Amino acid sequence: MKSFCLLLLILTIFLIDLTESNNLYQQKFDNEKDQATINLIDGEMTEGSCFQYLQCENENEKKLKQFKVNENTKILTNDAKIMQKHKSNEIEWFEIYFVITMEIFYFPINVNEIFPNLLVFYVSNTKIKMLNYENFKDMKKLLELTLSYNQIEEINEDTFDDLQELKILDLRGNKLKILNSRTFNNISNLKVLSLQENEISSIMGQFGNLKNLSTLDLYENQLVSIPSNIFENLSNLQFLDLSKNKLTNLPNEIFEKISNLKYLELYRNQLQTLDENIFKNNHKLDGIDLSFNKITKLSFKIFEEKIILYYVNLERNLCTNLLLGEYLYDDNVNPLTDEDKNKLKNELEKNCS
Ligand SMILES: *[C@@H]1O[C@H](CO)[C@@H](O)[C@H](O)[C@H]1NC(C)=O
Ligand SMILES: *[C@@H]1O[C@H](CO)[C@@H](O)[C@H](O)[C@H]1NC(C)=O
Ligand SMILES: *[C@@H]1O[C@H](CO)[C@@H](O)[C@H](O)[C@H]1NC(C)=O
Repeated sequence: MKSFCLLLLILTIFLIDLTESNNLYQQKFDNEKDQATINLIDGEMTEGSCFQYLQCENENEKKLKQFKVNENTKILTNDAKIMQKHKSNEIEWFEIYFVITMEIFYFPINVNEIFPNLLVFYVSNTKIKMLNYENFKDMKKLLELTLSYNQIEEINEDTFDDLQELKILDLRGNKLKILNSRTFNNISNLKVLSLQENEISSIMGQFGNLKNLSTLDLYENQLVSIPSNIFENLSNLQFLDLSKNKLTNLPNEIFEKISNLKYLELYRNQLQTLDENIFKNNHKLDGIDLSFNKITKLSFKIFEEKIILYYVNLERNLCTNLLLGEYLYDDNVNPLTDEDKNKLKNELEKNCS
């Protein structure tokens, strides 16, 4: 139950971050009164039939902005050219979501030819296994790409090369084991990257170009260790989630260059200790969750002085079970009091030194 709550909280934070980034264009969709969405429900996307169906759906005069394929739509081909009659410069949102009647194995191609001004591309809950350059070719305006809960095992290294404006990339819930080292090289404007719930067992230099990244979510993967320089270029990172991996220790310099780090999630790993200088450059750290690890030794020095903490969770460790502060991210949360900090200090000195 506890871990479920934590998970919910993590999700909430992640969503808050997504929402912030989303504001860029989400509002655009919300505000425009004269826009319409094509919702292909129970439609059949074969040549001919779907177009008639779509035209029926859009009898009003509204400007079409969104194209959504969901619910029971059947997709019988992955070539978006079947939508040729709906070719539109106005469509900014393309979504294929939870298609239950038809199993989709291949990613749609030629989408950009039909809808050259897409801002949001959303393909979720399909059986797609592989991504390559053709899938997102020329989508130079795309801001959000959500590919969650598919079966993606492989991403060719040039897959995202054209997506220079991309701000959000959501790959959670796939089957990625390996990330090519240049996969994210060209999407240097990215702010949010979620690789949550994959099977990634090693990372090495994949994030070197993501200088604007503010959220990196690696929750629930198979990471056993992390190279010490992996986050060295992420000077804008604020939220880092490494929970539910198999980390046994962390290099002393791992967080050295992420001086803007605010929230750090490390729960459900196998950590035994952290170096006492590990947060020496992380003056903005507001919350840290180290619960469900195997910590036997921890110096109070890591929390000392410079850090204004709002939240420290050390529950379910070998030397302590302490939880301090409120894990809430609204304006009403107060930093740990001196009394809290004394409690933390005493606990660590008594049981974890
Ligand atoms: C992507 O990056 C490579 C080098 O990593 C570069 O040669 C190529 O021009 C870039 N592509 C785009 C579309 O920016
Ligand atoms: C990062 O963000 C800044 C301002 O938010 C922007 O000027 C810059 O072009 C972005 N991209 C990179 C790669 O730094
Ligand atoms: C950080 O950026 C520099 C310069 O762009 C690059 O040489 C280095 O490899 C990057 N670090 C990582 C860990 O990718």
